[in-house]
Amino acid sequence: MIDVANLTVKFGGVVALDDVSVRLTDDVIGLIGPNGAGKTTLINAFSGFAPVTGGRIRSNGRDLLSMPPHARARWGLARSFQAVQIVPDLTVRDHLQAVLDGKGMPRSDRAAEIDRVLEFLEIAELRQREGRFLNQFQARMAEIGKCLVGGPRMVLLDEPGGGLSEREMVCLRRVITRIHSEFGAQVLLVDHDVDLIRDVCSVTAVLDFGKLIAFGATADALANEVVKAAYFGR
Ligand SMILES: Nc1ncnc2c1ncn2[C@@H]1O[C@H](COP(=O)(O)OP(=O)(O)OP(=O)(O)O)[C@@H](O)[C@H]1O
Ligand SMILES: [Mg+2]
Repeated sequence: MIDVANLTVKFGGVVALDDVSVRLTDDVIGLIGPNGAGKTTLINAFSGFAPVTGGRIRSNGRDLLSMPPHARARWGLARSFQAVQIVPDLTVRDHLQAVLDGKGMPRSDRAAEIDRVLEFLEIAELRQREGRFLNQFQARMAEIGKCLVGGPRMVLLDEPGGGLSEREMVCLRRVITRIHSEFGAQVLLVDHDVDLIRDVCSVTAVLDFGKLIAFGATADALANEVVKAAYFGR
């Protein structure tokens, strides 16, 4: 359970998150909103890369904002990037290995952990492939793999469906729905694909101009008149 209370992030005069309060208890939570609404900023605030000027993010009594980014990662916070962070001359295995190095997992356990995650993602055959040879889908899967190694508690996915075909979206959907049962982690999913959000998220939060304008059962959030106006009203 993650409790976000009165979270505010400002970039100069731009209020990217404006007094956002929300309790995240479900296994898979959607986060939607028009371009520039503050979705990535919320993920950055969780992971320690946004200038938070007020509020708290707590989990079971721990105050995430008081922890430096590496400590949050060790605690179990994992995030993917809207633009995948894949290094051209490192293999898929190297990318996952680097995450485990940062988390201090015993060397003897690392190979098995990497295999488990790659098999879960159905990309075990890409283990030794270098980043430069991955297509968009494979790179997106490797990016998710980086989130899943080393026992994540909370996985924040920033538009993992960006640029994927319909067939690839079917695979992505299957992966996201199974993360909680396989790894025990809560998932926060940011995506512009409303069908994906509707299929995999039991609850959904909606941001607009940095404010939380709706939060609740996904069907209700999507049907909300204020939400529709935010998407179609401009
Ligand atoms: N590093 C930054 N410096 C200045 N302004 C920023 C910075 N990062 C984000 N912003 C501003 O904060 C607001 C929220 O941006 P954010 O990237 O969180 O939106 P988003 O909901 O993720 O949008 P998108 O759907 O396009 O990814 C926008 O007005 C954006 O221009
Ligand atoms: Mg974004």
